[in-house]
Amino acid sequence: MKLTVNIDHIATIREARGEIEPDPVIAAGICELAGAEGIVCHLREDRRHINDRDVRLLREVVKTKLDLEMAPTDEMVRIAREILPDLVTLVPENRQELTTEGGLNTRVMIERLTHVIDEMHSKEILVSLFLDPEPEAIDNAVTAGADIIEIHTGKFANCIDEESRINELSKIGTIARMADELGLVVTAGHGLNYYNIFPMLSIREISEVSIGHAIISRAVFTGLSRAVEDMVNIIRK
Ligand code: PXP
Repeated sequence: MKLTVNIDHIATIREARGEIEPDPVIAAGICELAGAEGIVCHLREDRRHINDRDVRLLREVVKTKLDLEMAPTDEMVRIAREILPDLVTLVPENRQELTTEGGLNTRVMIERLTHVIDEMHSKEILVSLFLDPEPEAIDNAVTAGADIIEIHTGKFANCIDEESRINELSKIGTIARMADELGLVVTAGHGLNYYNIFPMLSIREISEVSIGHAIISRAVFTGLSRAVEDMVNIIRK
């Protein structure tokens, strides 16, 4: 399994003071040196953390792969077509949310998603859809022409009792197998940390996990390199 690191929180700290530090561009290099195989950043409509300058510079410095997480809006499509990330991850966006709260509503958005995927493919940018572990969402992802699905693991991560945790894990496993059989690349993310990552390792179809909060939080105490290395050591075993 591979690790991609979401560096939004580095920019969140910078924005807390409106200063120039810490710089997510420097964080990206440190994550890569420590073994991350991709860098993820979410350019939000309100630019609350990552901004346009970050995305431009990240495109220049990231040597593994740059995943631009974004809402499927015209503004973001235009930016992605200029910046040319290796892939975009399409997510729903809501101004009031603290973080991405759920997967895309593929039923309502299927035409929009198909259009955005076409726009990205015409620039050879791969597209991942952030989806709740529901079979209908996977069918819609195939219909819309997605390359990758990222399974939203937030509900699993938030389970407080063992029964619901096992239930969520089983849903994730079923969806991962279904998507894999349909020819989609399968990744997972949201709320994963150094403790709840272990069951993900047993789902063979999940080729990559995207982790932000847990790694940046640990980095406050251990340094970013060590925090990334610790996670890489877990998921490569
Ligand atoms: N994947 C997606 C699509 C996300 O929106 C986020 C949060 O920005 C993550 C993964 C990482 O989640 P976390 O910060 O909880 O590790």
